[in-house]
Order: sequence, then C-alpha cells, then structure tokens
Amino acid sequence: MKILLLGANGQLGQTFLCQGGLARRGELVAASRDGRLAVGEARAVVGDLSDLTGLQALLGAEQPDLVINAAAYTSVDKAESDEDMATRVNGEAPGVIGQWAAQQGALVIHYSTDYVFPGDASDPYPTDAPTGPQGAYGRSKFAGEEALRHSGAPHLILRTAWVYSAVGHNFLRTMLRLGANRDELSVVADQHGTPTTTTLIVEGTLAAIDRYTATDADPTALTGTFHLTASGETTWHGFAEAIFAGATAVGLMEKSPTVHPIASSEFPTPARRPAYSVLDNREFTTTFGYPLADWRDGLHATLSQLSTKKRGCHVDSPHP
Ligand SMILES: NC(=O)c1ccc[n+]([C@@H]2O[C@H](COP(=O)([O-])OP(=O)(O)OC[C@H]3O[C@@H](n4cnc5c(N)ncnc54)[C@H](OP(=O)(O)O)[C@@H]3O)[C@@H](O)[C@H]2O)c1
Repeated sequence: MKILLLGANGQLGQTFLCQGGLARRGELVAASRDGRLAVGEARAVVGDLSDLTGLQALLGAEQPDLVINAAAYTSVDKAESDEDMATRVNGEAPGVIGQWAAQQGALVIHYSTDYVFPGDASDPYPTDAPTGPQGAYGRSKFAGEEALRHSGAPHLILRTAWVYSAVGHNFLRTMLRLGANRDELSVVADQHGTPTTTTLIVEGTLAAIDRYTATDADPTALTGTFHLTASGETTWHGFAEAIFAGATAVGLMEKSPTVHPIASSEFPTPARRPAYSVLDNREFTTTFGYPLADWRDGLHATLSQLSTKKRGCHVDSPHP
C-alpha cells in the first residue's frame, strides 16, 4: 500500500510521522508546503493545497492507494478576512483529491471539525445532526466535507475538535507559556467542547485503516463521516484549570495562576465560535473497535511527555 500524507508539518502530520504506524503499514510519502519535513524520515515532496493543478499533478505522480489529508487552513480568525484562500484549501482541495481517488479507487481519509455545527445543542452532536457553521473556517471545512462526499471516492471524514499536542500551535502550549509569566488569567467559560490529542487521532485513524484493510472487511460499512474526539467535555476555562493543575503535578510549573472565568462577549474575536460543540463519538468506537478515552487521559499523557522532555519523535503509543 502506498500512502500519501498531506500536511506533514502540522500538529497532526508531525504526530503521524513520529508515531511511525503509517510507515509500518506501507510505503509512506509525506507532503508539506515547502517539501521539507519538521520531523520524521519519510520521503518528502511538495504539496500545496492552494495549487489545485499542482495537487492533481502530485496525485498523478505518486499514485497513492491511501491519501491522508492532515493539511488545512486552520487560522479560525484569519479565515474571516481570507475566506477565498480558506475555501480553496479546506473546501476545494478535498474535492480534487476525491475526484482523483474516485477514478483510481484510492481511499481518502480527511479531517473536519466541530465548527461545522451551530453550537445551539445541549447534547453531543451525532454525525447526522444538521450542520450550521458560525464562521468562514467552519463554512470552508463543511464545503470540503461535501466536495469529498460527492466525489464518489471511498472516504472517511473524521470530525475532530480542540486539537492539541506537545508541538505546534495550540491552547495547551499557549496556556503553559502565559501561565509561566502571569499570576492571573481570564479564559472563556461559555464554550463547551472536548480537548483531543493528536495521539488519539493518529491511533484512532490507524485502527480505522486496519479495520478497512482487513481481509474480511466490508468497505462500504466502514466509510462515511465519523466523530473522532476524546470522550467527555469541558470549557476552555475548565481545560485551562486542568492544564495548570496537571502541569504543577508533573513539575512543569511551580504554581498555578488563578484562572478567572469570562464570557465570550468579554473576549471578542473576529470569528464567532459555537457555544456547544461536543461530538457524539460512540459510532467511531462501535464501527472500528477503538475506545476513545476521556480527554483528561490525553492531557495527562501530553503533560507527562512534556515533563520528561520527550519532544520530537518520541510519542509513546500502545498502537503497533
Ligand atoms: N487545531 C484544531 O483545534 C482543530 C479542531 C478541529 C479540527 N481540526 C482539523 O484537524 C486537522 C489537523 O489540524 P492541525 O491541528 O494539525 O492543524 P495545524 O497544526 O494548523 O496544521 C495544518 C497544516 O496544514 C498545512 N497547510 C496550510 N495551508 C496549506 C496549503 N495551502 N497547502 C499545504 N499545506 C497547508 C500547514 O502548513 P505549514 O506548516 O506550512 O503552515 C500545517 O502544516 C485539520 O483538518 C483541521 O481542520 C483541527
């Protein structure tokens, strides 16, 4: 099996390369915008999703059996004033990948977001709940889902949420940086979601690939849209408090700052975000047999990883 990983230098892409499971399952080619890899030892190629012709050429040249699209325009606020670019990368490129894959019979694994939902629910969103993105990023990601769905390619659309890891740009790293220099912080307490580590996403994806490629598998029952998040829920404020409690417990910080809860209205941002975007992830577990642990387990593992300075390619994984 030949595997093309797009977006190899993002948080998720780097975790795929460090975890090593893709390279053990096939011949791995890793694409980044400039053709260089931040971590890992796969063959590197240029893959810019804003260049749709170049993307078609890359697919034609590499002829992958499996495309994993971890690349995305992820600046939620910037997308408000740059929607054309966000739409090309997040909305149109998945359609180009899907059209190529439909012709070749290749499987496409693509990631989407909790921000496709409006946020007015009070129970976790099932996969078939009506969507209603609140901002340009969510609209662009939903366009990508639809383009891939209608391409005819065998696909897995894996919606995830509140993604973080020991590397890259994310809430955990921002909190650790701010908390090291301040006694008090204010964090939004009226947005509910589920913090999810890239390790969980990578291991869940590998479990799905193994199920899909098993000799007795019925591929049609294993394709479609699934929610791949950790279990449980919190708010950004709750997440921040858990980060500081965990960071002091493992010795990453000497003392926790005080975290004041504030309303979203007190922290205006260009993009509106859903007030409630917890995803019902049970279908993923029942379909692929992969249990999705509570978000606190992922936080504990990530803080432990940071405290032992295991950065770069030293991601502990129970998955072969
Ligand atoms: N982060 C979250 O909280 C979150 C929440 C829900 C869903 N998701 C989804 O999860 C997936 C992985 O996200 P992530 O957190 O790993 O994102 P990330 O860390 O921001 O990484 C995104 C990667 O995409 C690359 N990229 C951006 N524009 C590109 C282009 N035109 N061509 C090629 N590559 C491009 C970036 O390249 P550079 O390294 O060159 O900038 C970066 O390496 C995405 O589909 C995202 O929408 C993320």
